[in-house]
Amino acid sequence: MKTIIGNWKMHLGIRESVAHARGVLRSVMGHEVLPEIVICPSFTALSEVRKVLVRTRVALGAQAMGTERFGAFTGDVSVAQLDDAGCGFVIIGHSERRAMNAESDTVVNAKMKLITQTSLVPVLCVGESKDVRSAGKAEVFVAQQIEAALRGVTINASSRLIVAYEPIWAIGTGLSATPADAIAMNVGIREAVKKAFGGKSIALSVVYGGSVNGENAYQFLREPSIDGVLVGGASIKIHDFEAIIAAGRDVMIAQSV
Ligand code: 13P
Repeated sequence: MKTIIGNWKMHLGIRESVAHARGVLRSVMGHEVLPEIVICPSFTALSEVRKVLVRTRVALGAQAMGTERFGAFTGDVSVAQLDDAGCGFVIIGHSERRAMNAESDTVVNAKMKLITQTSLVPVLCVGESKDVRSAGKAEVFVAQQIEAALRGVTINASSRLIVAYEPIWAIGTGLSATPADAIAMNVGIREAVKKAFGGKSIALSVVYGGSVNGENAYQFLREPSIDGVLVGGASIKIHDFEAIIAAGRDVMIAQSV
């Protein structure tokens, strides 16, 4: 199974979000074999988009969450509220939030612990800066992010985790990592997750994100060790997103998974 996640970031109003969600649905209609598809609109559009997605094969996700369950936290949205809003997935640790919203490793860890008390699936973003990569420390850096995010997190038999490897230098730059970079990193990510859970197994998907578009998606998706893609800019362009879904479908049909 391949997973395709669209992170719409701070784009689209409610009407545009609904129209775009309908466009995504049109592109999956009539296809039996489909990747898992998740779209993550802004908070303001979640409930209207949810109505469009009911009883379809496209799931709803949120782009962020607060660090507490309920309480006096002006402007925050808790994971329980996202659950209530119909989200099945939530992105945490995105580099934009790490950089601009003080989402430190400690905060990401607190969020992981809250998510595991719900049925939402965490989409944990990790990835190094250009400087860290140039210094040859990318693998170590990402392994540390995983270790910090999962420290003390308890899982059960039905727990699921999606880790998105999103190198910062590839986000929104048009300069994606190579599939070889992503494959090499994914090995380290799988090891770090295994270590963090003391060898206990978890349903783990490791996806790649960073300048994925309709043209390059196939080269990532065709790799057996890349379980999917997390898409920013191209996820709000219907032709690009359609092409990415089609690439996922083609790979699944070719590999019969
Ligand atoms: P782009 O696809 O625009 O590079 O963004 C990637 C991303 O940040 C998805 O979360």
